Amino acid sequence: MRNRVAVLHGVNLGALDRRPAEHYGGLTFSRLERRIDVFARELGLEGRFFHTNHEGEYVEELHKASDYADGLLLNPGAWTHYAWSLRDALELSGLPAVEVHLSDVLQREPFRHVSVLDGMCVAKVSGKGVEGYRDALAALKEVL
Ligand code: DQA
Repeated sequence: MRNRVAVLHGVNLGALDRRPAEHYGGLTFSRLERRIDVFARELGLEGRFFHTNHEGEYVEELHKASDYADGLLLNPGAWTHYAWSLRDALELSGLPAVEVHLSDVLQREPFRHVSVLDGMCVAKVSGKGVEGYRDALAALKEVL
């Protein structure tokens, strides 16, 4: 069964509990990952977690993701809005992906309305907080 999911978190996500709680819920990053891990298990998926604040490292992880995963859950943080290298790296990975954001990016500043991943992902979940990761995993499971 194809059930291996790489969960890739990008810039500033690691400091989640020090960022505005009205957008990010005030939870720690490790708590977020534990919650996602539980969601994944409940859906019969196996999560593998990666976080970096360095764009090149994120790109390199996308390059090798197909060696160990069947699908991708991507929250690249602010890179979502301008780091076009991620779009190319996602294409190169050849893996189905879901884009997820804790906050409702379309209700925030205009620069957050742009996503370099537009049209590349099977689904996009935004503004549902941690629960949104469950929806994102369920959407990914549909295509695995
Ligand atoms: C985010 C939304 C981005 O606009 C922001 O830069 C982040 C987090 C989210 O999960 O809501 O760092 O991806």
